[in-house]
Amino acid sequence: MKRIVIFASGSGSNAENIIGFFQTKTTAEITHVLTNNEHAKVLDRCKKLDVNSLVFDRNDFSKSDMVLNFLKKEADFIILAGFLWRIPEKIVKAFPNKILNIHPALLPKYGGKGMYGMHVHKAVKENKESETGITIHYVNENYDEGAIIFQAKTSIDEVDTPEMIAKKVHELEYKHFPEVIEQVILAKNE
Ligand code: GRF
Repeated sequence: MKRIVIFASGSGSNAENIIGFFQTKTTAEITHVLTNNEHAKVLDRCKKLDVNSLVFDRNDFSKSDMVLNFLKKEADFIILAGFLWRIPEKIVKAFPNKILNIHPALLPKYGGKGMYGMHVHKAVKENKESETGITIHYVNENYDEGAIIFQAKTSIDEVDTPEMIAKKVHELEYKHFPEVIEQVILAKNE
C-alpha cells in the first residue's frame, strides 16, 4: 500500500474525490492533506472524512526543511490538487516523477504563473476556444512545465460561460484524476 500526501490550497473537491476513490482500493491510501491556507475548505472536508491534515507556511515549506522532512517520512507519492505555490527544488529533487499536478486546461496553453482557477476558464472563453480540458503532469521546478502524463478534452459551446466551462472541466477532473494516479503508482511498482 503506497502512501499519498495531497496538497490543496482551496475548496478541495478533487482532494475529496481522490480520498473517496482510494478508500475502496488496496493500491494506495491518502495519509495526509497538507495546505498553506488555514481557512481552506479542504480542511473541513478532511474533518468530515477523518483524514489527517496539516497547515504549513512559507518558512516551513521553503526556508526550513519541515515539510521536506515530513514528506520523506510520510509520503511515497505527492498529489497537487488545486495547490497554488511553486514546489521548492529540494522537494522536487527528493521525489523525482513522484509528484503529480492537475491543471484545468490543455497545456501548454493557458499555463504558468497566475493561470489558475477561473483565470484559466475566463481566458479560454475570451479567446473563443472551441475546446478545453485537463492536463495531468509530473511536477518540476517551473509552473505547469513537467512532462505530460494524460490529457482529456471537452468541447465548448458558444453560449458557455466561464462558470459552465469550469463545471465541464471539474467533471473531467473527477472522472480521470484518481484513475491516472492509480495507473502511475501501479506502473512504478513493476
Ligand atoms: C481544479 O480545477 C484543478 O485543476 C486546479 O485547481 C482546481 C481545484 O479545485 N489546479 P478543487 O479545490 O479541487 O475543487
